[in-house]
Amino acid sequence: MSAQVIDGKKISDTIREEIKSEVASLLDKGVRPGLAVVLVGEDPASQVYVRNKAKACEDLGFYSEVHRLSAETTQEELLGLIGRLNEQESIHGILVQLPLPKHIEEKPVIDAISVAKDVDGFHPINVGNLMIGDDSLLPCTPAGCIELLKRTGNSAAGKHAVVIGRSNIVGKPISLLLLREHATVTICHSRTPNLAEVARSADILVAAVGVPKLVKRDWVKPGAVVLDVGINRLPDGKLCGDVDYEDVLETAGWITPVPRGVGPMTITMLMANTLKAAKKTHG
Ligand code: GUN
Repeated sequence: MSAQVIDGKKISDTIREEIKSEVASLLDKGVRPGLAVVLVGEDPASQVYVRNKAKACEDLGFYSEVHRLSAETTQEELLGLIGRLNEQESIHGILVQLPLPKHIEEKPVIDAISVAKDVDGFHPINVGNLMIGDDSLLPCTPAGCIELLKRTGNSAAGKHAVVIGRSNIVGKPISLLLLREHATVTICHSRTPNLAEVARSADILVAAVGVPKLVKRDWVKPGAVVLDVGINRLPDGKLCGDVDYEDVLETAGWITPVPRGVGPMTITMLMANTLKAAKKTHG
């Protein structure tokens, strides 16, 4: 039997409608959620992401500012801008698009963002709160994955979740979130022996490594939930995930496609985080 396809676009649209109605009631109180997006340099992929974030703000009735800075911007100039945005009342969320140009260090930039406005969930205090299980702003893609599980009725409690990838942006935080949802979690990476065998023991398999079509049919337990976080561009220009979708389709119980799977959830969770930050600052 073929897997049930998890329509991330549809679920994302539903959440956006929920956010819209929350924005309407915040507007009644005189508050408009505001997001500042900072892009340094001309990375083409980043430009597309930033444009999509600004568009989402417009669609949902958020205030937004996009700060496009030249590739020659100094670290001090960038830190200066972040300092001003930290103080700006109309801004509840700040996102500095990564990667930054080589001459700018990522860590001091992330550390400079106000914890309350860190809608990426990358600040060490938010990472620490995630670790402890305290309420905090959660990284968007991992939060989106958890939302997909919940909204398709796939409880993680008592399940074996296997995460392939250990990045700070996806692999590590999603592992902690799955643990919070009471899964037994295994984190795999490039030095894990018998990767296919470990993956095959998963009830929930998350692929977040950036290797096109790495996960094949024999890596998947029949009926497993497969969440594909990879977005890879093939030489022919087509997008594909870290999962060989066609190969795995008959074996998995549930699967996210690429595109229209996890991808649309990332910006939606960014908007949800900005709304949350706005609600916090205005009681
Ligand atoms: N670049 C790629 N993904 C992300 C993300 O989630 N946040 C930021 N700030 N930059 C990114």
